[in-house]
Amino acid sequence: MATGAANAGAGPAVVVLISGRGSNLRAIVESGPPCRIAAVISNRPDAAGLDFARAHGIATDVVDHTAFASTADPRAAFDGALMQAIDRHDPALVVLAGFMRILTAGFVDHYAGRMINIHPSLLPAYPGLHTHRRALAEGVRLHGCTVHFVTSALDSGPIIVQAAVPVHAHDTEDALSARVLVQEHRLYPQAVRWFVQGRLAIDGPRVRLAPAAGGRTPAEGDALVVPPLD
Ligand code: GRF
Repeated sequence: MATGAANAGAGPAVVVLISGRGSNLRAIVESGPPCRIAAVISNRPDAAGLDFARAHGIATDVVDHTAFASTADPRAAFDGALMQAIDRHDPALVVLAGFMRILTAGFVDHYAGRMINIHPSLLPAYPGLHTHRRALAEGVRLHGCTVHFVTSALDSGPIIVQAAVPVHAHDTEDALSARVLVQEHRLYPQAVRWFVQGRLAIDGPRVRLAPAAGGRTPAEGDALVVPPLD
């Protein structure tokens, strides 16, 4: 049933880019963000997240990267078409939510300071693919996820927020991935909300979070130590 909850409201326009499942898209929509999800755009026509968007009355679009394979510069041609599809909605923010494409520098520059990504690792550890498998292979005690502003290097850019989870002794890739995903679904709606509220400022490699209007600056958390100390 279409609720239209996320795109009916006022507030700045946000465009979400996906390639697949769309569980982060769902988390953002269901959080009731203070913005209008103007469109969900996928590079894959079969992305399940498109069905979710349609069911919620959100405009969808597909810019299929395979359609540009025979052009002289497929990556630039795809990014150009994608940029047109995005800019039709004049978004204040572009949210990459499981968007599995490497973007050209021109595309990234065009959305500098207004495009964010979620990555399933504690960046700068494990940029790229198979992050959970790599974390298990290296025996790390803490793993997690990161929301960051997008810059032209892969999975890099000023970090907005991170969550750490413990790696358990007998973890499988699936179990670890599921534990991280729970945190992704907490972090991404919060990061979108902070951005839309105008509370994020990029300051060199850092992102500063302004306190909520009338609120106090949140306390920094205590250390997270895994395994717990005796
Ligand atoms: C998430 O793990 C995200 O961190 C990564 O791709 C996955 C997308 O999942 N970039 P979903 O499509 O949001 O369910």
